[in-house]
Amino acid sequence: MTVRVLVCDDEPGLRTTLNVLFQRAGYDVTLAENVHNALDIIRDGSPFDLIVTDLSMPDGSGIEVLQAARERDESTQVIMITAYATTDQAVQAMRLGAYDYIQKPFRNDVLRATAEKALEKSAILHENKVLRENAQNSLRSKGLIGKSPAMQRITELVEKVANTRTNVLITGESGTGKEVVARLLHERSDRSSHPFVVVNCGALPETLMESELFGHEKGAFTGATTRNEGLVRRAHLGTLFLDEVGELPLPLQVKLLRVLQERKVRPVGGHDEVAVDVRVVAATNRDLEKEVHENRFRQDLFYRLNVLRVHLPPLRERPEDIALLAEYFVRRHSSLMGKRLTLSPEALRWVVDYRYPGNVRELENLMERAVTLASGGRIERADLPDEAASRSPLTEPLAASREADDSRVQDRPVTGDGFDLDAYLGDIERRILLQVLAECSDKRTVAAKKLGLTFRSFRYRLAKYGIAAEDEDETRSS
Ligand SMILES: Nc1ncnc2c1ncn2[C@@H]1O[C@H](COP(=O)(O)OP(=O)(O)OP(=O)(O)O)[C@@H](O)[C@H]1O
Ligand SMILES: [Mg+2]
Repeated sequence: MTVRVLVCDDEPGLRTTLNVLFQRAGYDVTLAENVHNALDIIRDGSPFDLIVTDLSMPDGSGIEVLQAARERDESTQVIMITAYATTDQAVQAMRLGAYDYIQKPFRNDVLRATAEKALEKSAILHENKVLRENAQNSLRSKGLIGKSPAMQRITELVEKVANTRTNVLITGESGTGKEVVARLLHERSDRSSHPFVVVNCGALPETLMESELFGHEKGAFTGATTRNEGLVRRAHLGTLFLDEVGELPLPLQVKLLRVLQERKVRPVGGHDEVAVDVRVVAATNRDLEKEVHENRFRQDLFYRLNVLRVHLPPLRERPEDIALLAEYFVRRHSSLMGKRLTLSPEALRWVVDYRYPGNVRELENLMERAVTLASGGRIERADLPDEAASRSPLTEPLAASREADDSRVQDRPVTGDGFDLDAYLGDIERRILLQVLAECSDKRTVAAKKLGLTFRSFRYRLAKYGIAAEDEDETRSS
């Protein structure tokens, strides 16, 4: 990868010297002649690995350059060039995070050695940052488990298109492995050393969505005390995963489309557009064609995202994969818990016969629970849920009563003086929310789907009843 260096100095002679020196070292050099110029360059392009800047220039201080660089990317290293009279400020710059300072006049070999050390540091920081971002949800990335023809085809397709820029739309029910496929597309591409950024379009608060996605300038709105580069730019050179893309409100769909078409973002409160290079993978468990038909999703955006489609069939349509996945999850969770377990034949039979409305995620949860419960060397039938619990106890009776054509309510509560219908119904609603959440191990997107609610409406109800649900998706996208 090329090393990007920015040189900022108002003296043309010094700029030329440094330019020659760094170009000889094989770096990609950009020159700025004053603070103003440097700030524009830093904010508008990809981050630099190293910035060498004069400390005092006619239009401002190198410290401003340092601060802009740190805001843009923490791994950028900055070396200050100072005149004898400004060493105090140089020390201050070090406190603010400059890598080192060098006094004028300097020897080229000294500057070059300092630059090399600074670059080592920025390389390590950059690598750590990428590792950190990619390690979120670390237990992933073993590839796709599944020997069914459908999964084989998907694996082949993923291998074939991973290393292209083609936008991919992944569809499938909740828990079928959409995020696994998205991560795999990233890991098998030459973008894998850059960030994989998950944007959960359903979990972003609507009012903040635009600035979370596209960034904002300092002071762009009340509360914007610092500049924010936004999730799209965080994914620069990497992959942007738009999860639950069907949840995106229409005005944001328009803005996202612009970004995809022009490959530029305009931060909230900013005047200039910033170029971005991202590969876009989107996922949804909604029927987007239908959403388009009913004018809830823009057709032009749909076409952009749906260049290539990967559809993950529900687990009940690929029973060949169940035993394989079950064994994989048992192995993974037992090793995490320091156990060594296998499934007993009776347990395996139950596992293979079960229908998995929650798909692979439900299978994984069941295996994790069984591994926790198992006491001997084997998972027994008793470590798995009993038959009654294996049918969804809540949603089925509800669905049945909806279909019943007798409109008289059978099990009516005792009504009379002091009866409060709203409170009564509210209590039922609250209990159903809690139960479904527990069933889905607090995955709110899954729970919302089970209840036939949009994510937004589901979240509204949780807030109404003061139910705080933990949700990994939310922390991931902030
Ligand atoms: N083929 C597979 N191989 C290995 N693990 C899988 C596979 N499919 C799914 N999983 C696991 O199942 C769980 C659910 O997968 P994932 O989060 O990708 O589902 P999803 O389709 O994104 O669901 P949702 O729509 O609810 O977000 C994860 O823990 C994932 O690791
Ligand atoms: Mg998902």
